[in-house]
Amino acid sequence: MHIAEDLEKALELVGRLYEGPTKYAKAVLRRWPRAWAAVAYVGGEAAGAEVYYAVTLARDACVHYYVVVEPKFRRRGVATALVRYVEEKCRGAVYMATTTEDNAAAVGLFTRLGYSVYRWGDLPRRIRENLLKATCGYDDDILLIKGASPADVGKELGEAGELWKETCLKPYLGVWSQ
Ligand SMILES: CC(C)(COP(=O)(O)OP(=O)(O)OC[C@H]1O[C@@H](n2cnc3c(N)ncnc32)[C@H](O)[C@@H]1OP(=O)(O)O)[C@@H](O)C(=O)NCCC(=O)NCCS
Repeated sequence: MHIAEDLEKALELVGRLYEGPTKYAKAVLRRWPRAWAAVAYVGGEAAGAEVYYAVTLARDACVHYYVVVEPKFRRRGVATALVRYVEEKCRGAVYMATTTEDNAAAVGLFTRLGYSVYRWGDLPRRIRENLLKATCGYDDDILLIKGASPADVGKELGEAGELWKETCLKPYLGVWSQ
């Protein structure tokens, strides 16, 4: 397996495989200077992709925004390789992802790699609001985090206000078009 940065290919995979809105992936890649997209290749075939970005709150954070793997390549370590690749790229940062509690594959993937699980509802309001802005995780109910506690990262909003406005709120309101 090898992994390469490829924005267009990653968006194609995300658009085809992700069951949910992908306008946020496009928005962050086009509007946030520290956003990237990686594709994992197995035997020359694009097997999976990840869209990720860096944002500074009280700490530097790196968000695993979209992770998708072609069904025929699942359970073969493709997503694990993508998540590890992003961690290596963002070394020194705190890593975060959001998902829904019923997404056993995503929860299993991240917890096996050392991420802790928090329910949004269990976090103090200010921390929750800041981290929701940093992750645009409004459709999800849990936060997965590695490298610090939610409070350590989310006690300051930092750049996440600007990120949220440009790549989360505007696409949500339809103000920004592709
Ligand atoms: C989540 C997803 C990316 C995982 O991709 P993958 O390449 O199959 O994951 P890996 O092979 O690296 O799996 C790593 C671990 O995650 C867990 N896991 C993966 N799929 C699982 C499943 N369907 N059920 C339970 N645990 C699962 C397991 O612990 C697995 O290790 P194991 O295979 O040794 O038991 C893939 O299922 C997918 O594309 N789902 C649809 C999109 C999505 O929900 N993305 C996540 C949003 S955050």
